[in-house]
Amino acid sequence: MKNRVILAMDKYIPLEILSEIESEVYGLKIGLPLVLDLGLEKVRNLVKEVNIEEIIVDFKLADIGYVMKSVVEKMLFADSFIAHSFIGVKGSLDELKSYLDEKGKGLYLVASMSHSGWNNSFLSYIKEVIKEINPKGIVIGATKTDLISSFKREFSSIKIISPGVGVQGANYGDAICAGADFEIIGRSIYTAKDPVNQLKSINKIIEDRVMNC
Ligand code: XMP
Repeated sequence: MKNRVILAMDKYIPLEILSEIESEVYGLKIGLPLVLDLGLEKVRNLVKEVNIEEIIVDFKLADIGYVMKSVVEKMLFADSFIAHSFIGVKGSLDELKSYLDEKGKGLYLVASMSHSGWNNSFLSYIKEVIKEINPKGIVIGATKTDLISSFKREFSSIKIISPGVGVQGANYGDAICAGADFEIIGRSIYTAKDPVNQLKSINKIIEDRVMNC
């Protein structure tokens, strides 16, 4: 697998840069700040112009099924969506998952977040929800490599995507070495003076790191 980076786009990145980046990333993760800054229509138009394998909308949905469906139905230009798992199954994630299945879209569930204040004492409950929903993928912070490895053993067929790399402290490639499929990276790329070369350097670091896992 060549490209192991999902670019987190929480701020506007011009199309000229995105076009240069598209062959260097696996996916593009659209954050709520970007949609609030640009408006939905501009985001939709921007996404239409890029050729990237997976477009993931990350609003970290956490609501009743009806409301989450009302959000995602406006964003069906994306391939997949991230929701929290702690909200539970009945009347919530079960409805969202059925809706996304019907539309041929993917669902990622947050298993554990990257920031230090996240409380892992709900972990066994979160695992139950993940088993019941059987999402396309799960999100686990790259700062928690032990957890990535244990989820990989328990949920071997579920894709793991991992944020918290760079600015939040995890080293490039560590999450992949622990079992993640992709690393989600935002500010370290889009705030760089030269985002294209920065991404290329990060890809090289990951490639070297992964060869020596
Ligand atoms: P930076 O700029 O820190 O971007 O590279 C990180 C991106 O990832 C998101 N993020 C998370 N998403 N679980 C998630 O589902 C997490 O633990 C987590 N930590 C960071 C953040 O929203 C940003 O888009």
